[in-house]
Parts: sequence; C-alpha cells; structure tokens
Amino acid sequence: MFDKIDLAPPDAIFGLLEAYEKDGNPLKLTLCSGVYQNESGLTPVFSAVKRAEAKLLETETEKNYLEIGGSPDYRRQAQRLILGAGHPALEDARVVTVQTPGGTGGLRIAADFLSNVGARRRIWLSDPSWANHETLFAAAGYEVARYRYYDADAKCIDFDGMIEDVTAIPRGELVLLHGCCHNPTGWDPTAEQWDTLSSVIADRELLPLFDFAYQGLGRGLRDDAAAIERFAARGTELLITSSNSKNFGLYNERVGALTVVCEKETACEAVLSQLKSAARASYSNPPAHGAAVVAAVLADEGLRTDWERELDHARTRIQEMRVSFAALLKKKGASRDFSWITRQSGMFSYTGLDETEVAALRQRYSIYVVGSGRINVAGLTPQNIDRVTDAIIDVTA
Ligand code: LMR
Repeated sequence: MFDKIDLAPPDAIFGLLEAYEKDGNPLKLTLCSGVYQNESGLTPVFSAVKRAEAKLLETETEKNYLEIGGSPDYRRQAQRLILGAGHPALEDARVVTVQTPGGTGGLRIAADFLSNVGARRRIWLSDPSWANHETLFAAAGYEVARYRYYDADAKCIDFDGMIEDVTAIPRGELVLLHGCCHNPTGWDPTAEQWDTLSSVIADRELLPLFDFAYQGLGRGLRDDAAAIERFAARGTELLITSSNSKNFGLYNERVGALTVVCEKETACEAVLSQLKSAARASYSNPPAHGAAVVAAVLADEGLRTDWERELDHARTRIQEMRVSFAALLKKKGASRDFSWITRQSGMFSYTGLDETEVAALRQRYSIYVVGSGRINVAGLTPQNIDRVTDAIIDVTA
C-alpha cells in the first residue's frame, strides 16, 4: 500500500527551510522561521543557559523518566513566569500546569484534553494565525473557524471586525488568542482593546486558549504577560500554552507547558489527572534537559539576572532592526510606506508582500520569506539589511 501514498504538502514554514538548505547561492538568507538571530546572524546559546548546563552536568545523577506531568520545579517556575509570582490565581491554588514538548506539544494536549472531557470540537482562530494552528487542531479532530483580526489595507488590527465576530461565536466555544507578539502579523491588541475583548469573552462565556510562545520578545517579560494576567485575575477558566524554546533559545530541547486556570481549587485535581492522561496517550512523558535548564536559571538569582539581560538585548535588537528597516526603505525610495513596522511587536512582521513578490525574493535573491509575506525581523542584521531592503524595493517596484 505504501507505493500508493500521495506526497504530503510541504510545511508552510519548515518546508521552506528545507528548500533554503538546498539553495546553492552563497548569499542566501532566511527570514522564515521564528528563531532569534543576533547581530552576526547566529542563534546563540544564552550564557545563563550554558552555565546552568555546566552545573547540571556536574550534579545530575540519573536520566530516569520524568513523571507524566513533567518536572515539578519547572512547572512551578513556569506558572510564576507566565502569571507573575503572587498572582491571585496562584494564591488561590486554582492553577495546574504540565510540562510539554514545546508550546506545540501543549497545544495538542490542550486539544486532546478538551475533547476528552467535554467533546469540544470547534476552535476559533484569528484570521490569520500561525500556519500550524489549523493543521494541529484539524489533526486533533477539530473544526476550525476564524474570526477577523487583520486589516490588510490599513495595516493594523481590524478590531471592530474582531469584536463583531467574537461576539457572534456561540456561547461556550473555544477561542485561541495570541498572548503577545501575534504570529504571523506582529500586531497585538492595546491594553484597552484587551479589556474590551475580555469583557466580550466573559459575556459570551467563551473559553480562551492563549498561545504564549514569545514572552519577553515583544515589550518585556511582564508587559507581554499583561493580557494573560488580567484574564486570569477575572476568576474564570482559561488555558495557556507557553514556550521557553524562544525566550531561552532552547529551540531543539522542546521546552513548553500547558497551564489551566480553573475557577476553583476543587477542580484542579481532576483537571491535572486528565492532562496527564492526554499526555500519556501522546508522548508518555516530556523530555527532561531543557526544562531542567529553565528551572535552574529561574531559581538562581544570578543566572536569572543574566538571562533577563540577554533577553532584553534580543528584544531591543529586534526593535532596532524594525526602525532601521523602515528608515532604510523610506530613504531608498520604496514605492510603499513601511513605517508601521516599528509599531508591531515581537519577531514577526506581516510585510504586505504578496505571493508573487515573495516568490521573486526567493528566485532573484535567494531570500526566503513565508508565503503570507511574514518575515522574521530577528533574521535582519546590520550586514544583511541593505541587501534585503534593496531586494524588497526591486520586487515591489
Ligand atoms: C514559527 O512560526 O516560525 C515558529 O513558531 C516555528 C514553527 O514551529 O513554526
């Protein structure tokens, strides 16, 4: 039967990386996947991570399985990082967390958990959303629906459209929100817009699932968590999938968590048991190393301070690249306005380049950009920004 199987379509993001690897042009450049690169175009290992790893190497005595829910230390630290130490939901002991293989693993466990316990079968995603959201939820048996999010002409959030659509979602359904650094657009709601959205979600009794993959890379660790903190303080239920792959540079260690905020402490035991049951049926138990590193860094004041400093540097560098990118395009006489790029947040920018322009970037310059026109701003460096802006001017002329 295997000889009758059709080729699977290439992944919208990783598929491009495969094409990039095969490209023989020495000037090739990828702005595809959400991976941070420093000013030299390298994805460095954070020095706090290196030091924590050295300590672990010395002190580790076994490689036994973690429990199904993952490392208790990591889970405690992840909760505090997401919600802020001392958050009322933590004080009320109504939060449970399982460690997952990356944020993506958390999303799949969230999908399985909700369908196992309540036959939830539909999820509402922003239009657009991370390409893998639809694939992942469809694979978990969900119907995928969309709410308006982005105004391509005005280059901003279509907030009226979003509220209109979210208000029309049937009571009790599942809505995915990006906690910060919206992927792929780079546009996040303002504090006032989050307030309005949280009231609508509460009125409609919708269940929010926050994808929180880029904490610390938008406006800062606590600022990026502000919307989630506020939702969790309302006392209603929500889910958060978080990643430490990006903010600790631990991409290939797959470090993430699924956190469920319950209305009451009494719900926690059963929820946790169901999360573990979904994890056991999927990957059994999560990998240990990356989570041990994150827990070690967060528990040690010196390492934590170093890590925060490095993360701040990464965030600032991305913002500086946004400013230079917009300024250079203007200076070089781009046929379009790109000034709004400085107001977006996080690694990504929806540039407004269409599929033909994206294809031209690849064919003429070996510059790889996701088909939707999303670029990873963290892939821009002082060395390559001239070439990228020249290429954009050419393909948009
Ligand atoms: C991205 O959007 O580029 C990242 O989240 C990497 C991935 O898994 O797609």
